[in-house]
Amino acid sequence: MSSIIYPGSFDPVTYGHIDIIKRASKNYDLVYVSVLDNNKKSPLFTVEERVKMLKDVTGDFDNIIIETFGGLLIDYAKEKNVHMILRGLRALTDFEYELHMAQTNYLISGGTLETVFLPTDLEYSYLSSTTVREIASFKGDVSKFVPDCVAQSLYKKFGY
Ligand code: PNS
Repeated sequence: MSSIIYPGSFDPVTYGHIDIIKRASKNYDLVYVSVLDNNKKSPLFTVEERVKMLKDVTGDFDNIIIETFGGLLIDYAKEKNVHMILRGLRALTDFEYELHMAQTNYLISGGTLETVFLPTDLEYSYLSSTTVREIASFKGDVSKFVPDCVAQSLYKKFGY
């Protein structure tokens, strides 16, 4: 059985993430969508809220498991017995950070944890959770970037 882990902060999940999840679910038997539970990052949404939003927007896929992880990604992958990490690439600007992360994970896992990249759909190449949070923080319209239930959660967070 082919399994892959799609890790991230998902603060909050966007149409860009959903596109990657959809494509991964077509190409792997099992996809772990794994939300980093790391207080150091001081996210906008709690890890429980992020997991709930992910579950709400991925109800159509039956080969996806959404859960949280803490600590090192290599330890979590080992615990799941999964040897492949998936990351989306939006633009060249993502590449250096992603390459370093992939190389580090490969090295510290003793050459057992590989990373594959999926280029995001052109439609979402500009999109990031950071941008979505920023727009919402100024009470802007985020309906083009995130599903309605996520937009509602953002509006509630920022009181509009
Ligand atoms: O959505 P993000 O914030 O770009 O995701 C980053 C994430 C969660 C994939 C990365 O920060 C991570 O794997 N953190 C866990 C800690 C770890 O293993 N660090 C070493 C890898 S360089």
